Amino acid sequence: MPAPDRLLIAPSILSADFATLGAEARAVIEAGADWVHIDVMDGHFVPNLTFGPPVIGAVRKHVDAVFDVHLMIAPVDAFVEAGADIITVHAEACPHLDRTVQSIRARGCRAGVALCPATPEAALSYVLDAVDLVLVMTVNPGFGGQTFLRSQLPKIRRIREMIAGRDIRLELDGGITPETAPDAVAAGADVLVAGSSVFRGGRAAYAANIAALRAGGMALA
Ligand code: DX5
Ligand code: ZN
Repeated sequence: MPAPDRLLIAPSILSADFATLGAEARAVIEAGADWVHIDVMDGHFVPNLTFGPPVIGAVRKHVDAVFDVHLMIAPVDAFVEAGADIITVHAEACPHLDRTVQSIRARGCRAGVALCPATPEAALSYVLDAVDLVLVMTVNPGFGGQTFLRSQLPKIRRIREMIAGRDIRLELDGGITPETAPDAVAAGADVLVAGSSVFRGGRAAYAANIAALRAGGMALA
């Protein structure tokens, strides 16, 4: 995918009002966000349950923006039909990671690989030519509102070096706020996922919340 000319902000609708997800997703895009980040959990890989393909398909009708689907589950195929543009799978949840990322691309989506905090960057070594995005979890996956893990910063810097010269986005997910965004971007991130720091304060606050993240990310960029 083309390199962004600015930091991309991807609000996670995990922190949105689930009763009006379509309107919430549209609201953050209208408020200046770039992608809609969609966290899919089935209560196995992480101890939480969110939504699946039918809900994503329903939201798709309300918003025309890149759907950045973060799967914390193993099955993938139904998310292509639901309208995903980017499908990111966890290295830890995929026994056949190479096959999975290749099949995502073969079905016309962009493919991402996510790493949990305890997973070393070496998990990416043999799939880098098959991916469009690397997602580094800066919290343990499963819930919004957790604290950014600074332990991930050296890993993020090393991944930035690993992907140099490739057209791969480096996305961070978890605990991103205007306060943590400068370190995130300085370490090499070009996409920031944010749930609670975008959706707090209700719809009237979304544009200011997104602008604050962008400003925080630009401080050291
Ligand atoms: C956690 C999810 C995140 C979460 C981030 O498993 O992948 O996308 O929504 O929430 P905040 O920004 O509140 O840490
Ligand atoms: Zn996520």
